[in-house]
Amino acid sequence: MSSGKIGITLTRHLFEEQRLHPAATGELTGILNQIALAAKVVSREVNKAGLAEILGLTGEENVQGEQVRKLDVFANDVFMAAFDHCGHFCIMASEEVEGPILIPEQFAKGHYCIAFDPLDGSSNIDVNVSIGTIFAIHKKITVNSWDGTTADLLQSGDSLVAAGYVIYGSSTMLVMSTGNGVHGFTLDPSVGEFLESHPDIRIPPRGKTYSVNEGNYPYWSEGVRKYVNHVKQADPATGRPYSARYIGSMVADVHRTLLKGGLFMYPADSKDPDKPNGKLRLLYECNPMAYLVEHAGGAASTGRGRIMAIAPTELHQRAPFFAGSPENVRELEEFVARYDG
Ligand code: AHG
Ligand code: MN
Ligand code: MN
Repeated sequence: MSSGKIGITLTRHLFEEQRLHPAATGELTGILNQIALAAKVVSREVNKAGLAEILGLTGEENVQGEQVRKLDVFANDVFMAAFDHCGHFCIMASEEVEGPILIPEQFAKGHYCIAFDPLDGSSNIDVNVSIGTIFAIHKKITVNSWDGTTADLLQSGDSLVAAGYVIYGSSTMLVMSTGNGVHGFTLDPSVGEFLESHPDIRIPPRGKTYSVNEGNYPYWSEGVRKYVNHVKQADPATGRPYSARYIGSMVADVHRTLLKGGLFMYPADSKDPDKPNGKLRLLYECNPMAYLVEHAGGAASTGRGRIMAIAPTELHQRAPFFAGSPENVRELEEFVARYDG
């Protein structure tokens, strides 16, 4: 029999953070509770995705005659449904939706906007590898209407008020920050609650792991190629060669990097002339992860400067992304400065 202790629930953690800020309205607490709710629903579906495939439930229709959508569309629908009526948002952006998402007329509008990647790492769904959800929250800055505009969504990472991710891994975890440390909560499926499991995550100042899709090597800049050559050279005095770890789900790769240190990279490459800035999207992938990594004592860079300093111009714009232990990020930036001019 267990001791009877419940542990610190996400709700209790949020309530205690709110008490530290007497001016807080509780809206952020409400938002994070909606994220936790949607995450539990997505987690439930992710856990049986393989089963659904085996039983043929992922075809056009299921036994109830309902359309069975792909998991990333399903996740998008779940998060939208958790957000649109809750009264906290004035506008939203999702990786799965081309334009800004307005709050339907019949629902109350709030003072925040959210950009989210409902299912990150979706190429890993079919092979039972960790996937995730990423979210970034700003305060509304436009004043003329209760509705938000694209300008509210195109704020820099430096203006974020909260960000986080959910990882659907060997357990489901929610990792988030409201600017007061980075905290991890693990879903206890038996009671359906996120319980604090990783309070105040701090990234090691230097790590011995590099994480990148090395198949793109020939398409990188000289500075990035030289850096990766460098970390693979044997030099026991400085702990080289580093270990390589690449899952291909940003959430999982950043999660490991936050806990163990090292450098996660998605550099710019010359593979596709339409995507000169690499693959990862600034608003709902790079900025929220940069916010978490910096708040855990790490660094997040384009290779030439802080990710969060970028002034966004488009909802789905991309940025080269290097994040992790601060000493590793500085070293990468030195290679870029030296070889890429
Ligand atoms: P998404 O599934 O939301 O489109 O994101 C996938 C991203 C990210 O999770 C990961 O870091 C990257 O794609 C992997 O890309 P490569 O397959 O090019 O390595
Ligand atoms: Mn993604
Ligand atoms: Mn996605």
